[in-house]
Amino acid sequence: MTGPAATRGPRSAAPVPAAAGLAALLADATERLRLAGVASPRANAEQLAAFVLDVHRSRLVLVTELPAAAAERFAELVRRRAARAPLQHLTGVAGFRYLDLAVGPGVFVPRPETESVVGWAIDWLRNRAGAGAGAGAGPVCVDLCAGSGAIALSLASEVPGAQVHAVEVDAAALAWLRRNVTASGRAVEVHEADVRAEPPASLARLAGSVDLVVSNPPYLPDADRAAVEPEVGEHDPALALWGGPDGLDVVRSVMELAARLLRPGGGLVVEHADGHGAAAVALARADGRWTDIGDHPDLAGRDRFITARRAAAGSGAARQDGGAGRAARPGDWKDG
Ligand SMILES: C[S@@+](CC[C@H](N)C(=O)[O-])C[C@H]1O[C@@H](n2cnc3c(N)ncnc32)[C@H](O)[C@@H]1O
Repeated sequence: MTGPAATRGPRSAAPVPAAAGLAALLADATERLRLAGVASPRANAEQLAAFVLDVHRSRLVLVTELPAAAAERFAELVRRRAARAPLQHLTGVAGFRYLDLAVGPGVFVPRPETESVVGWAIDWLRNRAGAGAGAGAGPVCVDLCAGSGAIALSLASEVPGAQVHAVEVDAAALAWLRRNVTASGRAVEVHEADVRAEPPASLARLAGSVDLVVSNPPYLPDADRAAVEPEVGEHDPALALWGGPDGLDVVRSVMELAARLLRPGGGLVVEHADGHGAAAVALARADGRWTDIGDHPDLAGRDRFITARRAAAGSGAARQDGGAGRAARPGDWKDG
């Protein structure tokens, strides 16, 4: 279609000249993305330009002009981003800690806040007596609700000798998980399993022997459906997001399965929604099988993840780090 109507709205990328100056293209793209409500529009525009040119974003300063084909491709990607397709779906990659993970439709895009959740778990493993010091086999770790494998593959690549298991129920997510595990060359064992159901034999055989369970389960309350950004509501899989009326349906199942898998003293680290710190701590306390229960904020200061250790059978009530679920530091669990 030609004429004025074709120039309105996020789907109306401007006609692209044969070759185009990068500065002008970036300025135009930034404005289109800003008008479409994209957060950090300049950074998004630069990342798309870098992707099209197959260079690191820091190298864009060396580029003055985009060849016609690259300019056309850039315009198309800007149009899709302005329609609120996630940046990571357009580039096919999500950075997570030291990893570049393949992502796209059908799998949850790993988030920065989960990086500090995993960081806490890795610090705890490193602080364990003997861990990483070449003493015996490495720790047995389980990532429940693994998605792309961000947590499992971080553990496998950052914790020497770790024996890592990744559990996921969704077929589409499993395909991305297997692809990332294969590409990594790491020996992560993938289990197709529902954390809300009886575990398959491959997982049940680990009962009572696991050192660490980490999970970033779906945890948004169902009532938030209308409030999420289009990148989330229209592109992350529903199964990755929604956690029932209070957002804690799958968190409860994760804690139940973790209590079965962990050895006494084993560590649990579970991400939860902001504002759910007190509820997550209350869940763990009420269960009675957890000790050293604490909640931790993310870098923005919002409640983000609970940590606890599996109490020995018959050890009685859960012990707190402080009186009110004060967060422990990874090194505080000395006898893990
Ligand atoms: C929020 S995403 C997290 C993915 C990944 N751990 C990350 O941090 O990027 C939650 C994942 O849990 C999976 N999931 C949801 N319900 C599940 C269940 N009952 N059993 C196993 N996995 C489940 C979803 O398919 C999704 O991949």
